[in-house]
Amino acid sequence: MSFDRVQRSACGKVILCGEHSVVYGRPAIALPVSHLRTQASIWANYPQTADDVEADAACIDIIAPDINTRFKLHTRPQHPLSRIVQLTTEFVAQHPHPIAGIPQRAPQPTLNCCYSLKVRSEIPVGSHLGSGAAASMACARAVAEYWGHELTPADASDLVYEIEKIHHGTPSGIDNTVIAYEQPVWFVKGEPPHVLSELDIDFEHDLTLVIADTGLSAPTKMVVAAVWANWQKDTATYERYFDQIAVLVKHAREALQHNDNHILGKLMTENQSILRRMGVSCLELDHLCITAQRAGAWGAKLSGGGRGGNMIALARDHHHARYLRRQLLLSGAKRVWIT
Ligand code: MEV
Repeated sequence: MSFDRVQRSACGKVILCGEHSVVYGRPAIALPVSHLRTQASIWANYPQTADDVEADAACIDIIAPDINTRFKLHTRPQHPLSRIVQLTTEFVAQHPHPIAGIPQRAPQPTLNCCYSLKVRSEIPVGSHLGSGAAASMACARAVAEYWGHELTPADASDLVYEIEKIHHGTPSGIDNTVIAYEQPVWFVKGEPPHVLSELDIDFEHDLTLVIADTGLSAPTKMVVAAVWANWQKDTATYERYFDQIAVLVKHAREALQHNDNHILGKLMTENQSILRRMGVSCLELDHLCITAQRAGAWGAKLSGGGRGGNMIALARDHHHARYLRRQLLLSGAKRVWIT
């Protein structure tokens, strides 16, 4: 590792089942998407002249070309990228966890310094694949490493959760968790997450998902707020939906344990039909789900917030996944990935 330049990344995610009901205390299962990543690079800037020192001392330059953004941290201290830099810097100053063999930077972790932080992402923004949480996670890891520290997954998850609150209002915490551990997780709000591979689930088995993008961007915050409004208007119906989803999420975990993709697919499709009744699907998502099912997927559903973004379909194998990709593209999907 170069002392003056660090680069760290974070993965995307999909929700296998249980989105929205997870905000109301029910369980959900999320999977990392390791080949879709966000990179954060930091390089030290050294003032060249006395004027630079005057003008640019304590200057952290934040560059995020994917969202056409570039600014000095102190000019936009409430921006989510500024907040993750501030929180991580404070955290590593207060809870030092030095990386063995890396010299410590002087002074100790501080915002009173000069560096550039650049964020680049392969994860489309607003598509419910975890772009916001991945950007925060990559920045938190890079800032910690810049100061010669390593974040544990639990600490990184907690830091990113603070930023998720800015993005989403009342997040369950599932996105920051799955991205921090980069493992399939069983998640219940307010409880320690369970990494599914530690619960007898073998993720080396054939779980081939096809992810298809509607190309529609729908802020999670808006869809979560709409569910909240509906829940307030008709609590009994929405509680019933959440309970039905909780049961199918438990069955999905058993299906994963028994390597039963046929049952898992049926549960995904059942989840989609409840999400549709809850009002969080849309014509484009329904259309892609039906296309995948007609093309022989074990099951298909929206993933994440809904009303746009992505659907996931469970393919029979890699060969079948490639066939599904072609069918989904012909049906109007803007982009398709195979996990
Ligand atoms: C977002 O990936 C999943 C939602 O359930 C929101 C949340 O859990 O915070 C829609």
